[in-house]
Amino acid sequence: MNTVLVGAQWGDEGKGKVIDFLTEEADVVVRFQGGSNAGHTVVVGDRKYVLHLVPSGILHEGKHCVIGNGVVMDPFDLMKELDQVKSWGVEFKGRFHVSERAHMVMQWHRAIDKAEEAVRAEGAKIGTTGRGIGPAYAAKVGRYGLRVGDILKSDFLDIVRMQVEEANRALAALGAHKLDPDEMVRLYTPVVSALMPYVTDTIQYLHEELDAGKSVLFEGAQATMLDIDFGTYPFVTSSNPTAGGACTGSGVSPRAVDRVIGVLKLYTTRVGEGPFPTELFGEDGEKLRKRGGEYGATTGRPRRCGWFDAVVARYAQRVNGVDYWAMTKLDVLDECPVVKICTGYRRRDGFVYQTFPADLKALSECEPVYEEMPGWMCETSHMTNYDALPENAKAYIARILELIGGKLGVLSVGPARETTLRVGI
Ligand code: GDP
Ligand code: IMO
Ligand code: MG
Repeated sequence: MNTVLVGAQWGDEGKGKVIDFLTEEADVVVRFQGGSNAGHTVVVGDRKYVLHLVPSGILHEGKHCVIGNGVVMDPFDLMKELDQVKSWGVEFKGRFHVSERAHMVMQWHRAIDKAEEAVRAEGAKIGTTGRGIGPAYAAKVGRYGLRVGDILKSDFLDIVRMQVEEANRALAALGAHKLDPDEMVRLYTPVVSALMPYVTDTIQYLHEELDAGKSVLFEGAQATMLDIDFGTYPFVTSSNPTAGGACTGSGVSPRAVDRVIGVLKLYTTRVGEGPFPTELFGEDGEKLRKRGGEYGATTGRPRRCGWFDAVVARYAQRVNGVDYWAMTKLDVLDECPVVKICTGYRRRDGFVYQTFPADLKALSECEPVYEEMPGWMCETSHMTNYDALPENAKAYIARILELIGGKLGVLSVGPARETTLRVGI
């Protein structure tokens, strides 16, 4: 059984937790896009683990973890993260692999990311994570990127020097500090030997595993509404976090994918700038933020919070072909006397969008159309059986499924591993 797991909203839906849960029955976990802009949390007992580049399956002994060709990987972030994983007492020797085709995020990509964000006018800022993701993907598509395999070339450090000099022209034009080419060459010299043990042809590796009947789990980062093609462009990330990205980002055919799981938070959050039709301001938003602990796992920024948006979820169902949903954070709504579901966006002339419009200006002139349902006003975090949930909670989930399609597969009622209910899968 090969499974693609994707975020269905604007990220932070709880993908890390669900991947950790599904790793039990997988042999290999693969990250296929994004980079250290991701922050995936796994809570085991009272310990919290946050992963940025390393797949969230790493905590499971013996499971193999792959950074696929579609990822942009900052070698310094990776080394830091591997040290941290080691400090958790997790051994990964021989079961962690990095694609030689993955692109590297270099120090100048980070510098350009921050400099570009700084010169963007108010209203045009994206609110990036500052991890160099956009410039690294721009280099890849522009065909001047550095791939992981390039570290094996004898002139790798000469290329580093050349690229720093090139990047310095862009940084100067942006009014930002230049980087010292000698310092960069010094910095990248030890990277070569540090990375070497993990670098491999992951396409060949994955196909060998598939041929041997092993089960592969594809771990999406970011989410559908942050997708460069399907999201709220330009307020998006620079990759394809949707299901198709699992294939282009790993070298595995769509014909090898058996099921797609979409992760949905039972309300909505967004971090960074950009449209968010159901955003709640003031006390209502603050309540969700507080109860949901909605602060970025990568940047610590407070997440914007709002009601569940069925337009977004239905769109994500279509774009990804979601078979099963993993719905998370039901417990966060436990104290809401009323819960709301957005079913459309109403334009001033009365027209109601049932699908997510591409035109953000048109969207900004819309009002969300809500259905209200009574809340359940009791604790759900101790529940271990779906049938035992309060009737109003089940009715809320059933109505959402009716609006968006797909089946419920997993329900999460708390941050810890144990608070995960297997429902339909
Ligand atoms: P990801 O980026 O999709 O992996 O999600 P994050 O890890 O960035 O954010 C999800 C946050 O919600 C983390 O702090 C998780 O520990 C937490 N979480 C996940 N599922 C649940 C849940 O069902 N209930 C509660 N209260 N917290 C959850
Ligand atoms: P996970 O995998 C939430 C957002 C940033 C910004 C936009 C572009 O934890 O769900 P980037 O640095 O990628 O160029 O920023 O995308 N963003 C995320 N938001 N969760 C994430 O990852 C995100 N990764 C990027 O806040 O709005
Ligand atoms: Mg996250």
